[in-house]
Amino acid sequence: MFHVTSLREEHLEESYEIEKLTNPTPWTYKNFKSSFEVGHFGLICIYKNQIAGFAIYSPIKPEAHLLNIAIAHKFQKKGAGALLLNTIFDQCTVMGIKTIYLEVRISNIKAILFYEKFGFKKDAIRENYYTGEHKEDALLMSKVLA
Ligand SMILES: CC(C)(COP(=O)(O)OP(=O)(O)OC[C@H]1O[C@@H](n2cnc3c(N)ncnc32)[C@H](O)[C@@H]1OP(=O)(O)O)[C@@H](O)C(=O)NCCC(=O)NCCS
Repeated sequence: MFHVTSLREEHLEESYEIEKLTNPTPWTYKNFKSSFEVGHFGLICIYKNQIAGFAIYSPIKPEAHLLNIAIAHKFQKKGAGALLLNTIFDQCTVMGIKTIYLEVRISNIKAILFYEKFGFKKDAIRENYYTGEHKEDALLMSKVLA
């Protein structure tokens, strides 16, 4: 049903549209653009001709940081997030990455359950990590790759 490919510059706009509808404090288009320009690794999940979701991570051996992942509402709970995450695990393993880190809003239960399903452990709470209109603590999670 889905397939994964690299995020290229022409995918930024569509990915940003997904971000706006799925994240209470979305990255701006400028955030997407500069993330792309500094060389973060991006993946998109495709269904037919549409982008179902994207994931962006930064590998700095021996660690990687998952910076953003979102699936458009109509494609959620259909395995797209799992496919993106498993592709990141495969790429990180090839690169010699040992641990993947991420932050998630403490109230984002579905994302926390999603990460736990894929072996991420809860490490710590970072207080007042999210600022602005929707202030919130972050849960720090990590996964050690086999
Ligand atoms: C979190 C998110 C990326 C998951 O992507 P997804 O494609 O919907 O997830 P999948 O269909 O691949 O689910 C894989 C597993 O994760 C867990 N999971 C996913 N969504 C879940 C939900 N709403 N409730 C409980 N568990 C969930 C389940 O264990 C699921 O396995 P199952 O289908 O066998 O039950 C997606 O919900 C999303 O984009 N949310 C909005 C953006 C966001 O919160 N991003 C994370 C920011 S840190």
